[in-house]
Amino acid sequence: MEPSTSCPAATPLVKRPFHVLVGVTGSVAALKLPLLVSQLLDIPGLEVAVVTTERAKHFYSPQDIPVTLYSDADEWEMWKCRSDPVLHIDLRRWADLMLVAPLDANTLGKVASGICDNLLTCIIRAWDCHKPLLFCPAMNTVMWEHPITAQQVGQLKAFGYVEIPCVAKKLVCGDQESEREHKQGEQQAEEEGKQAPC
Ligand SMILES: Cc1cc2nc3c(=O)[nH]c(=O)nc-3n(C[C@H](O)[C@H](O)[C@H](O)COP(=O)(O)O)c2cc1C
Repeated sequence: MEPSTSCPAATPLVKRPFHVLVGVTGSVAALKLPLLVSQLLDIPGLEVAVVTTERAKHFYSPQDIPVTLYSDADEWEMWKCRSDPVLHIDLRRWADLMLVAPLDANTLGKVASGICDNLLTCIIRAWDCHKPLLFCPAMNTVMWEHPITAQQVGQLKAFGYVEIPCVAKKLVCGDQESEREHKQGEQQAEEEGKQAPC
């Protein structure tokens, strides 16, 4: 018997892009969001979107982010009545992988305890734990070394999330000698940190 042309198995698969959702929180390391997004876009086959906390907005300019950028207002403006989409559910469905970079101490604490009071934490609270979620903690040394940090990072790992470990580096601002940042772009981060006015 000749294979039918309408048989789905005979139809070449059209590969859709791999969807990466970047979450950004109010750490000074959010200065590097434009660099992170542009480096992700250099990887063939990726589609990238960003979800931001309100505090994170302080550290970058939206015009430097060449992908869709979602924030809390979008969630509430989108939903008016029953048939409307719920953005945090749509985004957790859309994403194949979530990368929270940087993850500040505040949002780390919220995620570890299940608090979901903004778009980013609602997405994470609704996350399908079969999909990868990577997080890059970023905070100054004294915050990092507080005993609650290890507990909270351990909790996220227990959920199955993957930590991208910190590195020690010179602080962008303030009187500490080092800060913790995620490994990606470590060298460049160090150079920028020494130059950044604060
Ligand atoms: C200039 C500046 C830099 C900050 N950098 C950090 C940081 O690197 N890590 C951190 O945990 N908090 C940092 N914070 C504090 C957070 O912005 C603050 O906890 C905020 O409420 C976080 O909100 P979010 O988690 O909703 O983004 C910084 C605050 C300021 C004003």
